[in-house]
Amino acid sequence: MSAARESWLMRQQKKFEKNTLLLLIGILVVVAIGGIIEIVPLFYLKNTIEKVDGMRPYTPLELAGQQIYVSEGCHVCHSQMIRPLRDEVERYGHYSLAAESMYDHPFLWGSKRTGPDLARVGGKYSDEWQLQHLIDPRSVVPQSIMPPYAFLAGRPLDLSTLQDEMRALKAEGVPYTDAMIASAPADAAAQADPDSEFETMQAVYDGIAGRKGSVQIRNFDGQPGPPSEMDALIAYLQMLGTLVDFSTYQADDLKNQR
Ligand code: HEC
Repeated sequence: MSAARESWLMRQQKKFEKNTLLLLIGILVVVAIGGIIEIVPLFYLKNTIEKVDGMRPYTPLELAGQQIYVSEGCHVCHSQMIRPLRDEVERYGHYSLAAESMYDHPFLWGSKRTGPDLARVGGKYSDEWQLQHLIDPRSVVPQSIMPPYAFLAGRPLDLSTLQDEMRALKAEGVPYTDAMIASAPADAAAQADPDSEFETMQAVYDGIAGRKGSVQIRNFDGQPGPPSEMDALIAYLQMLGTLVDFSTYQADDLKNQR
């Protein structure tokens, strides 16, 4: 009985092996089944990103800083994605959550680490260190091969495109309101000047984050006058990875086990 069955199977296999068109159709069918099994469940999930407390969109100044980060190509040497591997977590901190980059368009995960991962660099160094390092990396890290970006300090921050950028992000699903967009240029200047009227801006962004103190207000580059590109870039670096409070964070699947 089993010998007859085997020979039937072998006869079928021969048909496929001798007819390339049949083989091709067979391959397509098998690959399509695999694809359907992988893709279909995604349509039935409410969300593929776990909701996490503390996330908020970038403030206008941080957003301007992110644009400089992209335009200067920082992401070509630096990743922003800590993998859940022990050596990475010990070096950089808690592994990156999907929710932490849900307002990033485009994602800046990066694919190359000529320099270290920056996903949690916020608060690791002082503003002065960041400033000095960007002006002349080798003055603080003698063996560094990072290029200097001293010119950013002298360049006034161009806020003319900020509102358009926020509108584009809003269309992508980032929860910016019309009021947030309307006050963006003033808010950007306010975040870099502790003597300005910043309470409304701070309250709006802290409100979305659901906690106080998510917005850092300082003169990031230490220079008087309107914000420079350096202010924006340091404001962005200093908030990276600081929104989620990992002392209280617990992954959803762990919560369900209780
Ligand atoms: C050619 C590759 C390269 C580019 C481009 C580059 N960096 Fe770096 N970066 C490095 C290297 C290498 C280091 C490690 C040595 C050091 O600290 O200078 C580093 C270190 C850093 C650190 C310190 C990280 C830590 O945890 O110690 C920060 C912050 C940083 N870079 C920010 C930036 C920013 C912002 C830009 C874009 C304006 C940038 N880098 C562009 C290579 C690069």
